Amino acid sequence: MNVQKRGPLKGVIKVPGDKSISHRSVMFGALAQGTTEVTNFLQGADCLSTIRCFKQLGIEIENNQASDHVIVRGKGLHGLSKPTDILDVGNSGTTMRLISGILCGQRFESSLIGDESIQRRPMGRIMTPLSMMGADIKSLRDNGCAPLAINSTLDRKSTLSGIHYNSPVASAQIKSCVLLAGLYAEGETSVTEPSLSRNHTELMLSTFGATITSTGNTATILPNPNLLGQKLNVPGDISSAAYFIAAGLLVPGSEIVIKNVGINPTRDGILQVCKQMGADITLENIIDNGGEPVADLVVRSSELTATQVGGELIPTLIDEIPMIAVLACFAKGRTVIKDAAELKVKESNRIDVMVDNLTRMGADITATPDGMIINGGRPLHAATIDSKSDHRIAMSFAIAALLAEGDTTILKAECVDISYPNFYSDLKSLAK
Ligand code: S3P
Repeated sequence: MNVQKRGPLKGVIKVPGDKSISHRSVMFGALAQGTTEVTNFLQGADCLSTIRCFKQLGIEIENNQASDHVIVRGKGLHGLSKPTDILDVGNSGTTMRLISGILCGQRFESSLIGDESIQRRPMGRIMTPLSMMGADIKSLRDNGCAPLAINSTLDRKSTLSGIHYNSPVASAQIKSCVLLAGLYAEGETSVTEPSLSRNHTELMLSTFGATITSTGNTATILPNPNLLGQKLNVPGDISSAAYFIAAGLLVPGSEIVIKNVGINPTRDGILQVCKQMGADITLENIIDNGGEPVADLVVRSSELTATQVGGELIPTLIDEIPMIAVLACFAKGRTVIKDAAELKVKESNRIDVMVDNLTRMGADITATPDGMIINGGRPLHAATIDSKSDHRIAMSFAIAALLAEGDTTILKAECVDISYPNFYSDLKSLAK
C-alpha cells in the first residue's frame, strides 16, 4: 500500500463497532439462555475468529455481514459442547484469553492455537490465576505461549474454586478471563489490578444478569448466574476513531466529524492526551448506549504541544500509543511515554516497531524500557514501513504518511482487516 501527502481532510465518518465489545457480545450471548441480537458488530478478522470458535463449541450464530447484524442462539452457562477440532483464534489475544477462562469451567477437554504472532504472546498471565482456581491448563510447548491444552478437572473435583487475584498488570484480558472462570467457580471470584483497565466485561455481564460489582480497581463476580439473551448495539470503536482524530488534528485545514464513538472513561485516554496537547476536539450528542456512553467527535486541525503520558492513563489508551507517538512527532517539545511496557507484548513489539519505523521517516524518537521519548517538530519524509502485520502499526503509519514528503510504502498493509476492514477506503473518502 502506498500513501502520499494530502491536503485538508473534510467530512463525516462512522468508524466500525468496538472490537472489545463485539467479542464479548458473542461470548456472553453464547453463555446466555435465549437469543442475543447484536447490531453494529465489527466484521474484523479477530471478531470473526470469536464467532468461528463459538460455532465449534456448538453455538448457532448468524452473521449478516452486509448489515453488521449478528444473532447468537445461546445455550446457557452449561450448554457448550466439546469441539471436534483445535480452536483457532487467529491473531486475537482477546479471543484466546477470554475463551480460556470459559473453557476451564467446562466438563470437556479443548485446545487452542492461533497465528505466529499469538504463539509468541504471553499466556502464563492467564495460566497462573486459572491454575490457582484448580484448572488444568498447559502450554503445549512449555514456553508459556499457545498452543494451549485445557483438561477438564471438573469430573474429579466438582467446580473451580473462587479466588482473589491480585493481577500484576492492568489488563482487561486477564481480568475478564478470571471473571469468566469465576462464573463456574465455587464462591466469589475477584480481581484487583494496579490501575483500572477497560470495564466492558463488568458492564456487559451485569446487563446479561450476572452478579458482578466493581469497587476501585477490584471487580467481583458470583458464580452460576442465569444469564439471559440481550439486544445490544455496539458503539463505534474509539481505538479505530483514534486514526481519524490524529489525521484531523495533524493535516492542516481539516475538519472531521466522527459519529457514534464509544467514550467509556476506561477507554477515553486518547481524548485526554489530545486535550493536554492542545487539540480542538468537541464532543456532541453524548448519549448512554446501554451503559456504554457514545458521542460524535468534531475534530479540527490544531497546533499541538508535547505532553507526558503515563500512570493510570496507560490502560485507558494502550492501543492508541502508536498513534500518540505519531502525534508527538508533530507536537512542539519533548513527549515522554512511560509505564507502557505492555506494548512489547501486543500483536508486535510496539515500542521497537514504532521507534524503528518513525526513525526511518526522520523522527527524533528513542525507545525506553517502558515507552519512548519523542522530540517533536522534525518534518517526516516518506519511507518503507514494515507493519509486522500489526493492524495498529499499519494504520498509524497510513496517517503519518499523510504528513510526509514523498511516497510511503506500508508493507503487509492488509493486516488492517483485523480491526478495520474498510480503513483505507474510509480514509480516502475524507481526502477530496
Ligand atoms: C482488550 C484488552 C487490551 C487491548 C486489546 C483488547 C480487551 O489488552 O490491548 O486490544 O478486549 O479486553 P490487555 O488486556 O492485554 O491490555
